[in-house]
Amino acid sequence: MTLAITLRTLVFTVNIIAVLVIAGVLAYRVLSVRRAPKEVEPQNLTPFYDDETLENEHLTRVLRWTLLFSSIVAIVLPLYWVLEPGRQSAEAEGFEERAIERGATLYANDQMPEYDAAKSLLCATCHGTDSAGGSAPFVITPEAQGDTEARPVQVSWAAPALDTVFYRFNDCTAEELAEEAANCARAEQQVTQIITYGRPGTPMPAWGIAGGGPKNAQAVSDLVAYLKSIQVSPAQAKAQVGKDVVALQDQAASALKTARQNLAAAREDLAAAESVTARAAAEIKVARAEEAIVRSRAFKTEVDRASQGKLLFMTQCARCHTNGWSYNDPTNALVPLPGPMGGGAFGPSLTGGSVLEQFPGEPADDPKTPGYQKQYAWVGEGVENNKGYGVRGISSGRMPHFGQIFTQDQIDAVVTYERNL
Ligand code: HEC
Ligand code: HEC
Repeated sequence: MTLAITLRTLVFTVNIIAVLVIAGVLAYRVLSVRRAPKEVEPQNLTPFYDDETLENEHLTRVLRWTLLFSSIVAIVLPLYWVLEPGRQSAEAEGFEERAIERGATLYANDQMPEYDAAKSLLCATCHGTDSAGGSAPFVITPEAQGDTEARPVQVSWAAPALDTVFYRFNDCTAEELAEEAANCARAEQQVTQIITYGRPGTPMPAWGIAGGGPKNAQAVSDLVAYLKSIQVSPAQAKAQVGKDVVALQDQAASALKTARQNLAAAREDLAAAESVTARAAAEIKVARAEEAIVRSRAFKTEVDRASQGKLLFMTQCARCHTNGWSYNDPTNALVPLPGPMGGGAFGPSLTGGSVLEQFPGEPADDPKTPGYQKQYAWVGEGVENNKGYGVRGISSGRMPHFGQIFTQDQIDAVVTYERNL
């Protein structure tokens, strides 16, 4: 109530003061005009230069100014036109550089200088600080093993190299990639898709909000920019294919060694075991170690005897086309054995003649067979998303293509291998 009254009084007072001030000003104006009527000549009658000065001296002066300002425009405008594209591309480059920097921070783990505890997503922990590939601990659930009675199994799931990922998901030439040209739209789209949605059923989580992850589209695009900036040279990407084969052969050889060492250790434990329970546990271990020897030997034999096509398939294709290949570990009998080679996982099964149905033709292995050629083109280049391939395939864009990293002989080898699966 008091507030209302004071507010009213205040407004009232202010109004009175305002009226008084206006009245005062008006009164002053009226009275002062009366007191001192000053004769002012109208503006349009003010005397100016005479014609002589106006048309010579004055005109020249004005024209001089005009010349000066026109010259400034004449110099600055073309200069602006010349500098503008450079400014724009520098701006775009700076924009890209900042995106790469942010992407590097997102990618890093605490082993890397770009690491920031509040921002980093630790991609490097699985994919390697050098992005050359790594592994992630993962639990294979009974459902994933297709056996509800089975026990969950802890495995190590191979995480692919990311410093060659743009050579696999590609739609621009190796030269363009080497120049970091920006026109690999299809590849960028695919890598964005993978990062956004992850790979369900594998350790690769969804990072984008659309996939249920924590990061917005800006962060995902920063990661893509970073990955693009760390791609190795085309020659290195090609050489990596051979190195992967050697690494597989080494893995097969060392698996048998490891399995033998494990068996020896398990036997020692058994000999040292005193109690009945300890003996029982040690016996199980020995049995598993023996099983692992059998598996490791079979694995080594398989790799030793593998054709070039099969070796390439094992190193580049099996992680998607063979169930359990990504966590294959013959030294551990607890880890489920991989399914039949090419039996299908993330990518479809290629066995049982399905490849020949998709890419038909006789003789199957003849490079002149139309189906062979179509398959060659599919493995090498692929087709755009949602476009058809083979007899009834529709590309989802999820399959990488190998024309940038395989030689023609290598594509031939892997195609021939697949046509005989
Ligand atoms: C917990 C481990 C883990 C983390 C963390 C992780 N990834 Fe992955 N990522 C994987 C695995 C495993 C795969 C392969 C999945 C498969 O076998 O299909 C993969 C696949 C990918 C692929 C597809 C590569 C290809 O050739 O198929 C890309 C791209 C990728 N990850 C990017 C990232 C980025 C970027 C981050 C960080 C934001 C990240 N990953 C974090 C484990 C991880
Ligand atoms: C990242 C996972 C992935 C990798 C690695 C991969 N593929 Fe695929 N592949 C797929 C997917 C997914 C499809 C289904 C087509 C699609 O979705 O576009 C497919 C389809 C195919 C088909 C057609 C099968 C059909 O019946 O339609 C062939 C042939 C094939 N892949 C061969 C290969 C070869 C050869 C390699 C290795 C050099 C390879 N793939 C590596 C995921 C993969």
